[in-house]
Amino acid sequence: MPLKLSCVATELTRIHADLLAVGVFEGTTVKSDALGPIDHALRGALARLLKREEFKGKKDQSVSLDTLGQITVHRITIVGLGEKDKLTASDLRAFAARAAREANGAKATALAVALPELPDIANVRAIGEGIVLGAYRFTRYLTGDRKPKAALAKAALILPVGTSIPVDRKRALEFGTRVADSVCITRDLVNDPPNEMTPIRLAEAAQAVASAHGLQCRVFDRKELQKRGMKLLLAVAQGSANEPRFVHLTYKPEKRSKKKLVVVGKGLTFDSGGLCIKPAQGMGEMKSDMSGAANVVGFMAAVALLKPEVEVHGIIGCAENMPDGAAYRPGDVFGSLDGKTVEIINTDAEGRLVLADALAYARGIAPTVLVCNATLTGACVVALGQRCSGFYATSDELGERFAKAAKAAGEQFWRMPLLEDMKDQLKSDVADLKHTGDRWGGSISAALFLREFVGDVPFIHCDIAGPALSDKAYGFYTKGGTAHGVFTFLSFLDQV
Ligand code: BES
Ligand code: MN
Ligand code: ZN
Repeated sequence: MPLKLSCVATELTRIHADLLAVGVFEGTTVKSDALGPIDHALRGALARLLKREEFKGKKDQSVSLDTLGQITVHRITIVGLGEKDKLTASDLRAFAARAAREANGAKATALAVALPELPDIANVRAIGEGIVLGAYRFTRYLTGDRKPKAALAKAALILPVGTSIPVDRKRALEFGTRVADSVCITRDLVNDPPNEMTPIRLAEAAQAVASAHGLQCRVFDRKELQKRGMKLLLAVAQGSANEPRFVHLTYKPEKRSKKKLVVVGKGLTFDSGGLCIKPAQGMGEMKSDMSGAANVVGFMAAVALLKPEVEVHGIIGCAENMPDGAAYRPGDVFGSLDGKTVEIINTDAEGRLVLADALAYARGIAPTVLVCNATLTGACVVALGQRCSGFYATSDELGERFAKAAKAAGEQFWRMPLLEDMKDQLKSDVADLKHTGDRWGGSISAALFLREFVGDVPFIHCDIAGPALSDKAYGFYTKGGTAHGVFTFLSFLDQV
């Protein structure tokens, strides 16, 4: 059921909602225009609570109270937005997400989100995004009592009495919810279990997005991959009963553009490690090893809505890394789409193999910029933690543009170095390249390996292994698949 949205200027005591989330700037007092009438209706209880909690409106500070039927909203949360001139669109997205999360927790069906002043179009869109992102739950496999009884059906953006609300803001709110719906496609794909979300199903999901949004879509099956010589992707897939797939989605702007952004994603629907099998603990998390590909699918759905002026391609290599009698082994040597031969060292370093063929294919599109994203190495998680992705850029200037995009999106990406002297680690005695290096700096040697397959194309590689999946909701991310990266890629559209 689509979320019913509204945007109105009214007094907070007149709102009908299960939960009212009021965003206030630092230094706001209870005597302010918005909170005063509520405090009055609650006979000073709000003022006493804010005082007791030493609430100052600092960023992310919050207090919640039940109104016990004294006003028409059942529950109020007051959330600090921090300093007014530092407020960003992603802060508002996180604020709205938090409100929606709390609405879910309170089994609310109607949410109202109040702000002290009319936000600009981008900020209203971010609020729309946040509401949907925060309300997101993955409930596909819950039955009976475990199935949530209430779902958010209505959301209202409330502005101070007398604010005139241009129609463009109402549109932006609705548009934000649709962008977030695209981002939730990514989350659904990641959260789906690996027995369901096989390479074939992942390719079908991409195809479904293409037909729903009018994108071009090409899907290559095993035979086609063999014909084309994508030998590394096939090598990874050969130990699995589930066939691999390769998908190429295309968005073409109305007015032909010379600029082309190509985004590539790793789509390992499950990574057991292959013959170099992973330990049991945490192996289940490897259902999220297709997060890069899921990001591409959600991103392309959002691109279709945003209709940027540049041409955009989304490419995913889908396979499952399993250890059966046909599995690839350490010591094997394979050719690749690029032509280079590769000696297999550790079958658990499968992502870079799938990506090598995907990047070689992508290079053929002649991208202005080629962006890769993958849950590629545990080493990157060791380096940057679970809430920050690493990225590599083939030039400083490109790196700066990407960092700018990530910052505007409110996502944590930290630039890592392509250390030239580590290239020696990829030298093989029997083939052109080994596919892994030493243990130390494992994220860097993986990036250096990928770079071997992109030629001279300006190249960004994102190692999203840390933030792709989260055991806790934070900011505008949910527990489970977060879709970390999608907003950055959307924001990067302006930088191509
Ligand atoms: N999919 C994993 C990386 C990963 C680890 C993602 C933790 C998310 C959380 C990747 O395929 C992998 O297994 N990488 C190995 C590479 C090594 C064998 C060179 C790793 O990081 O240990
Ligand atoms: Mn692996
Ligand atoms: Zn993997």
